[in-house]
Amino acid sequence: MKTLRTIADVRAAVRAARADGATVGLVPTMGAFHDGHLSLVHRARSESDLVVVSLFVNPTQFGANEDLATYPRDEGRDAELAAAAGVDILFAPAVTEIYPAGFATSIHVSGLTEVLDGAARGPHHFDGVATVVTKLFQIVAPDAAYFGQKDAQQVLVVRRLVRDLDMPVRIVACPIVREPDGLAMSSRNVYLDAAARERATALNRALDAAEAAVAGGRTDAASILSAARAELAAAAIDPEYLELRSADDLRPLEGVASTALLLVAARVGAARLIDNRTLEAPST
Ligand code: PAF
Repeated sequence: MKTLRTIADVRAAVRAARADGATVGLVPTMGAFHDGHLSLVHRARSESDLVVVSLFVNPTQFGANEDLATYPRDEGRDAELAAAAGVDILFAPAVTEIYPAGFATSIHVSGLTEVLDGAARGPHHFDGVATVVTKLFQIVAPDAAYFGQKDAQQVLVVRRLVRDLDMPVRIVACPIVREPDGLAMSSRNVYLDAAARERATALNRALDAAEAAVAGGRTDAASILSAARAELAAAAIDPEYLELRSADDLRPLEGVASTALLLVAARVGAARLIDNRTLEAPST
């Protein structure tokens, strides 16, 4: 595995591989790898000849009061894990390589980005994501790019971006990877102390309860949300949002007619956590 720092070096390496007929898979990350990231790498490895992982803690997607300064960073460990997982190129640029002096462009995806995490974190968040993802796609020009379904809204934003700007890249959403007790893996889980870590398992229980409600025929939003909210309340968690939305375009839903997304965000101890579940109406 090569660690590359410059756009020019990545372009040269990808060009050389493409000249030999290689297909290219990109896994965009902010590092602090866990098994969720590695599942994206494994999927990319199984489908691509050249696997590029970007490691870049993107400042433009963090708000002024968010955790940019403290976001976990350990490039040495990440590089070891990436090499062991079969990554060919680790692209770990400096901030100035991605945002040189005078950088003035921002990509905004309307509609999908004003709700849920866009409302909770502010409009800069998805503008930052869309801008850096666009840059990464321009730099690496991958055939496919791999994202975790834990960031369900991000996946929809990236799909819309790619569709609207005619980017020739296939977006692959990979399943959420969970700890044995159900907590969705996240780089931010390191912020949880023991008590908060225990309480955080309520997010998955809330999604389980919602799924059980739907399986039991309670497909209206009020019943689903109240089943989920009861699990959160039992762990003294007051969610930032808990919403039933369309899995295609995030419009609010009054019930599960076919497929829906239940999305939750909550502050638990020192961590802000998100999770979601796709809910399917029981077949009649
Ligand atoms: O999901 C993430 O880690 C980030 O939002 C991404 C896609 C790497 C963009 O910075």
